[in-house]
Amino acid sequence: QPESIIGGKSFTAVAVNCAAKAGEWIKSKVGSITQLDTKYSMHDLVTEVDKGAERMIRNLILTHFPTHSFLGEEGVEPGPEASAKALQEMSESEYLWIVDPIDGTTNYVHGFPFYSVSIALAHQGKVIVGVVYDPSRDELFVAERGKGAYVHGRRMQVAKENALNKSLLATGFPADQHVALPANMKSIQALAPKVRNLRVAGSAALHLAYVAAGRLSGFWEYNLSAWDIAAGSLLVEEAGGRMSDVAGQPFHLGVRNVVASNGLVHDELIEELRVAART
Ligand code: IPD
Ligand code: CA
Ligand code: CA
Ligand code: CA
Repeated sequence: QPESIIGGKSFTAVAVNCAAKAGEWIKSKVGSITQLDTKYSMHDLVTEVDKGAERMIRNLILTHFPTHSFLGEEGVEPGPEASAKALQEMSESEYLWIVDPIDGTTNYVHGFPFYSVSIALAHQGKVIVGVVYDPSRDELFVAERGKGAYVHGRRMQVAKENALNKSLLATGFPADQHVALPANMKSIQALAPKVRNLRVAGSAALHLAYVAAGRLSGFWEYNLSAWDIAAGSLLVEEAGGRMSDVAGQPFHLGVRNVVASNGLVHDELIEELRVAART
């Protein structure tokens, strides 16, 4: 890993420091949660650890960069409309930190060790730093725009599979039970027989990190928010992969229906999702 990528008091160094500190604290609280609430639906959980971790990250970032803007999941009203509005309102910010303090809260609550801290910095709407930390495995995924993506100092590269029938893919079950879940059930039904296998492991940010690391050839999910995907999108791009919306249109932070891949299976995946949507 080049020194510059986490050196000194750089943006990346602060992001890494926040992710490591918050991640360590989150992990120390496994099994001792005292407040469990639901937000938008019974599938959308929040604990005092989500809120505490976001506060910790926010304070650290704003201490270092008091003029920057901050968008964190727990600072926004629940639901897709509010999250889109919050992003829109902050779209003029020169520097915007986009943070998911625990991506995979359901896993966290159940002690299923697949959750992450996701921290991104966008400059004029484009992600320039992305950090995803998996406290359970102590895996730190870091990318800086133009400088590559790394997992614990090792440069990451996307998987080499060039067809869906040789690919391991992942997706997520959306919290929206009315539109997004039925849509994705159709996609899953269409894709499952065509791929080597499918995983639904429960953290969009970590799924993206796994695409970057070459552990998955692709990932799609409907109805995500900026904090789920901001950091992971840069990991994927800097590892040589491709990000888009579900129709194959260019990725940006407002995209909710997200497709990520190694690039080689991207068009095939988009086509299968398109066909599934028409059934
Ligand atoms: C959720 C996770 C999950 C995905 C959901 C997200 P949260 O984030 O990323 O994998 O399927 O769509 O909302 O609520 O645990 O931060
Ligand atoms: Ca949540
Ligand atoms: Ca999330
Ligand atoms: Ca979260």
